[in-house]
Formats: sequence, structure tokens, C-alpha cells
Amino acid sequence: MDFQPVLKLSEIIENKACLTVFEGREILVGVTNKGYFAIENKCSHQGKPLTGGRIRHGHISCPVHGVRFNLETGAAVGKLTNKPIKIYRARANEDWLEVCEISA
Ligand code: FES
Repeated sequence: MDFQPVLKLSEIIENKACLTVFEGREILVGVTNKGYFAIENKCSHQGKPLTGGRIRHGHISCPVHGVRFNLETGAAVGKLTNKPIKIYRARANEDWLEVCEISA
């Protein structure tokens, strides 16, 4: 699977997740002081969107019940679920943020 451009870098604000689409699925992309990230827009607790979740210390908080997910690994932090969310590889290439599926 190759990297595909999903969002102009000029639209990205540090520590804000931007909603976009990759291969027909909603994802959230952005940048923190640890680098670019791309994650599925679906909480592993009850499947709600993570849109609007606060980003702090490399994690996004689900706006519904507050489970936090590591933006690099997808790992859940909290008591409600230990199921990770899906993550993607993300990189900057010229003016674009590009995303790629992580092969198993
Ligand atoms: S739906 Fe996200 S923590 Fe419950």
C-alpha cells in the first residue's frame, strides 16, 4: 500500500485533529510535538466518533466518555476499554500530509 495525500499541511494546526477521508473511511490527522498522526475516527469503546476530542501529551480523549488513545500506537488508556483504535502511518511530503495503511 502506498502513501496517499489526504490533507494540505497548511490546514493542520498543532494539537488539533482534522477530519478527512482515506480509502472511503473517516480518519483524523494532525501533528503534535511527536510528529504527524493518522487514526481512525472511531472510539473502540462504543464506536462513537473521536472528532472534537482533546489532544494532550500524545493522546486524544474520546469526547463521549473520556477514554484516551495513544496517537502513535492506538493503545487505550482508561477503565472502559483496553481495545486499541486503528492507526495509520502519516508523513509530510511537500505540501501534503500523506497516509498509508500499516500492513500486519
Ligand atoms: S464512546 Fe468513546 S469512551 Fe465511550
